[in-house]
Amino acid sequence: MRIIFRFGGIALLVAAIVILAVLPFATSFVEQWARRDVELRSHLVFNSARDQVAGLLASGDAGRLTNFFERIASDERVLAIGYCDGASLRAPTRNMPPSFSCEQAARGEAVSFSTISSDGRDILVSAFPLAASGREGHLVVLHDLSYAELRGGEARNYLFLALAGVAFGASALAALIAAFIMRRWLASIRQALESARAGAAGPPEEENIIPLGQEIRDVLQELEASRRTIDAAHTDWSPDTLRAALSNELSGSEVIVVSNREPYIHNRAENGGISLQIPASGLVSALEPVVRACGGTWVAHGSGTADRDTVDANDRVPVPPANPSYTLRRVWLTDEEQDGYYYGAANEGLWPLCHIAFVRPIFREQDWQYYRSVNEKFADAIVTEAKREDPIILVQDYHFALLPRMIRNRLPQATIVTFWHIPWPNAETFGICPWREEIIDGLLGSSILGFHTQAHCNNFLDAVDSYVESRINRETDSVTFGGEETQIRPYPISIEWPPTALEGQKPVEECRRAVRERLGLPSDMRIGVGIERFDYTKGILDRMQAIDVLLSENPEWHGNFSFVQVAAPTRSKLANYRQLQEEAEALAREINERHGGEGYEPIKLLIRHHEPDEVFELFRAADLCIVSSLHDGMNLVAKEFVAARDDEEGVLILSAFAGASRELSEALIVNPYNAHAMGQAINRALTMPPAEQRERMRLMRDQVKERNVYRWAGQMLLAASRLRKRQRIRRLITAGRNRTTANA
Ligand code: G6P
Repeated sequence: MRIIFRFGGIALLVAAIVILAVLPFATSFVEQWARRDVELRSHLVFNSARDQVAGLLASGDAGRLTNFFERIASDERVLAIGYCDGASLRAPTRNMPPSFSCEQAARGEAVSFSTISSDGRDILVSAFPLAASGREGHLVVLHDLSYAELRGGEARNYLFLALAGVAFGASALAALIAAFIMRRWLASIRQALESARAGAAGPPEEENIIPLGQEIRDVLQELEASRRTIDAAHTDWSPDTLRAALSNELSGSEVIVVSNREPYIHNRAENGGISLQIPASGLVSALEPVVRACGGTWVAHGSGTADRDTVDANDRVPVPPANPSYTLRRVWLTDEEQDGYYYGAANEGLWPLCHIAFVRPIFREQDWQYYRSVNEKFADAIVTEAKREDPIILVQDYHFALLPRMIRNRLPQATIVTFWHIPWPNAETFGICPWREEIIDGLLGSSILGFHTQAHCNNFLDAVDSYVESRINRETDSVTFGGEETQIRPYPISIEWPPTALEGQKPVEECRRAVRERLGLPSDMRIGVGIERFDYTKGILDRMQAIDVLLSENPEWHGNFSFVQVAAPTRSKLANYRQLQEEAEALAREINERHGGEGYEPIKLLIRHHEPDEVFELFRAADLCIVSSLHDGMNLVAKEFVAARDDEEGVLILSAFAGASRELSEALIVNPYNAHAMGQAINRALTMPPAEQRERMRLMRDQVKERNVYRWAGQMLLAASRLRKRQRIRRLITAGRNRTTANA
């Protein structure tokens, strides 16, 4: 119905404009025509009276001449009549306007017409040359022109009514035709939808109501099929299911991943050779198995000392080096760029801003300029790598808040899926960031924006609500900004299952023995482990204090329990990180002095990078693992510990402020700010019966197995695929509508 009014309204408006433009011309045309009619009548009067007037003038009988003129003037159209003998007016009729004089009338050797005004009326004066008694003179006939104006007005009114009638009829016809076309078009879409839903092929192309019916039906069928695949795929995610989902749903699509940290770092070793390092990064350990399964290109900063020596002329290197399955494209950064973008804006600004660890963020304008220009540099690299106009681009983390918008501007058809690996703070906290609007704008260049938890999604939506003009749909968790929609979704990240690092691991008993031997510990020593980057968000000092509490309150653990803290140096250029390391070393020393002795060290602090194999061996050797983050997006160490324990023993002590605590609820959940309670939790872990350990561990292992990283990636890619199909349908429908309207 709306369409009828819309079309009818438009047609009516056009008709009204045409009528208003035409009316003045039509009126003046009719007026001119009426005037010519009056002139013609004057001629008739003159022709029929000429001889008689000439005779009466010659006779000099003024009385008869006047009577004759009065008879002619009795015609209702003639106002008055008289004879101009030079300048004097002879025998004027009764209605001759008193103000009229022969001088007013245009007189010449030929017939002439002029218009005069009298008592507010326009009067046409026709002057006909007529000699009398050898003297030149003119018969003057006066007509009242209000008659012509009256005709013009009447004509205008008739014309207006006629045009309005035609316009109204034409508008109604246009609206009906539009409604008819729309009905046919909607019926076609409905028919396409129904046959797609029923899995039917639909009518042959020539019977299609609209030309694009078949195409729409195909896309809808794909969409339906993908929905069925997702349901089926809920159960068992693995590299194979991920690959299958990719080739079913996104076949032929190009996948480009971008992150700051590269998955493989080539370093120059002391002996001049090249060593390979897998960085300590939750992002890398989650994403690498996914990219290995999917193939494609991973764009990242080349940070290793031998990185330039291992790439080809296009800065590309096939990885994993032992068995390549995707391309790593390295981007080079100058020292100034690294200082401003990575150390400054990303790690002194955004990192503490997003983590509530009570470290004050530092926002430097200069750093932000580097952040912006490095994001541009990565956008250039992505555009160079993209072979198609519509790649799927997976943007990773807080280093690239501006990148989604930059890519969107240059590759408008790309599907951009951004994942924020760290927490998103509440809107008030985020509000202190001087770059808040630009960050939100940048991220809203994404098609899909993912966080680990629904709480982080909600915080982001609140920030959007507070700081930019946009339309937020809380029902679908999406934001429309600048005409484009971004879906905001929780995708809890995870690890590969089964983990590669578990391959080749010795049985648990052997690991226990080997690790104790290597660390110089007695074979029956109970061990706790903590493994992470040396970061102030991880709560390393807090867990040491908890160990202090444990040993103070439970002296039976003296000499019987050691805590092995593995800390990989990270971001050491920054004062906060160096200070944390110094404080941790001092605290470990102090606790060891207080509680240790005779070769017993309660805390063993190992400050160096450990490769995944070593980490897994440690996990298997331990009785418990402590993850005491003050705030963490997810924390994959917790999941790795669970994955490493195929013997189903060992206890996980997990911070309530790590995203992982939402999924691993069978861990001993602690508040890392409460050293006393955490000390008690360690005691509880050390005294937990093996049966209870197994029960808890089994549940947690099921959880990590099922919600593994292939599921994380698969869900995001399937969401991207659905989005692409919907966009394709929308494009087809628009094309169909345009074509149908053009054909009509
Ligand atoms: C966190 C971040 C990652 C980062 C990792 C290691 O997990 O979310 O983006 O790669 O820490 O930090 P680094 O600065 O060494 O890359």
